[in-house]
Amino acid sequence: MRNFETILITGGAGFIGNHVIRHFVKNWEARIVNFDKLTYAGNLENLTDVEDSENYTFVKGCITDAKLLEEIFAEFNPDLVIHLAAESHVDRSIEEPLEFVKTNVIGTVNLLNVAKNSWKDADPEEKLFYHISTDEVYGSLGASGLFTEKTNYDPRSPYSSSKASSDHFVRAYHHTFGLPIVVSNCSNNYGPNQFPEKLIPLMINNIRSESPLPVYGDGKNVRDWLYVTDHVLAMEAIAQAGRVGETYNIGGHNEHQNIELVHNLCDLIDEKLNRDPGSSRKLIKYVTDRPGHDRRYAIDSSKIQAELGWVPHVQLKEGLSKTIDWYLDNTEWLDRVTSGTYQDYYQKMYEVR
Ligand code: NAD
Ligand code: DAU
Repeated sequence: MRNFETILITGGAGFIGNHVIRHFVKNWEARIVNFDKLTYAGNLENLTDVEDSENYTFVKGCITDAKLLEEIFAEFNPDLVIHLAAESHVDRSIEEPLEFVKTNVIGTVNLLNVAKNSWKDADPEEKLFYHISTDEVYGSLGASGLFTEKTNYDPRSPYSSSKASSDHFVRAYHHTFGLPIVVSNCSNNYGPNQFPEKLIPLMINNIRSESPLPVYGDGKNVRDWLYVTDHVLAMEAIAQAGRVGETYNIGGHNEHQNIELVHNLCDLIDEKLNRDPGSSRKLIKYVTDRPGHDRRYAIDSSKIQAELGWVPHVQLKEGLSKTIDWYLDNTEWLDRVTSGTYQDYYQKMYEVR
């Protein structure tokens, strides 16, 4: 079992990242350094409960900035990098593909380079570069079948293409330069603190305000949903005991059509807010499909289960209920995020170093 003294986590102010930071700050003695650019998706308000912890440091910066990353490696000497920072929303990648190339491809290669150079004299057994990727790199499934670690890459959106490219670079740095790496490819996450542009928080927010619920195409696209803290536990298991050079698929065994999921959210929120049964379903509006919309994702996670004993713990019904409760209890967070005011305070407080 590996142990680490200093963990550099990129993208720790984002949705998954804040849950990763919280878990490691609270459960590990290691020093945790959160390196994040604070784009629209980064929100330090997600981390107020741990921001004063002795083992936590935040650094505002961009992963494309080699000089700053070199300084951070020299100052903190991380023995584990968990690389989450990315542009992550498919719809934005269709509007602005180059932003995805800059952060997801160039930023990742830049980080790999700095890790390789900074760790050149270190024992490779004592270092690990852990790259967090997505199941979208495998493309789109038909009605049956699952993505395994051996499935050929077939990315179809600018987002998934940029993630696929970054995965290839991570493996290339292992094969060419001997960088100790591990990669995981996960299915759709959901849970508290997710930016309300993604399906579940967007629908919760719109149901709450009785606004239209935009369902793309016929609503029958399928995603495999995983509660975010189950992803964090998978990451911890991989960081501790994943085999260097390997890939692990992570999924929830929780396939649902989008329209089923939206119906579930409507019904649960009607119940929680004492609305007439069926009233929120009337807000559903079928809208023009996402261009190139992948039909179905589903993960075979038997490798991580067999090698590392990881299984998801939170079932969809429980996870959705917890997620809805969090958003309904944190309407001020939602209002600040949707109005954009959340960025003012921390952006001023943390100028880029
Ligand atoms: P997110 O968009 O919520 O957060 C991304 C974070 O990265 C933000 O805090 C942002 O400020 C930061 N960031 C963006 N560009 C940066 C840059 N150039 N330099 C430094 N920081 C930068 O994303 P998320 O949903 O939390 O996803 C995190 C990672 O997990 C991504 O790599 C994503 O591809 C992967 N992933 C996400 C899911 C999912 O369902 N959300 C599933 C599988 C894999
Ligand atoms: O599979 C993992 C991926 O899951 C991650 O790598 C991505 O970072 C993450 O954003 C997510 O990608 P998706 O495109 O699957 O997630 P999104 O929440 O954008 O959409 C989920 C499904 O819901 C998808 O089929 C599109 C549909 N959708 C989405 C939105 C925002 C709608 O029907 N209406 C909407 O308004």
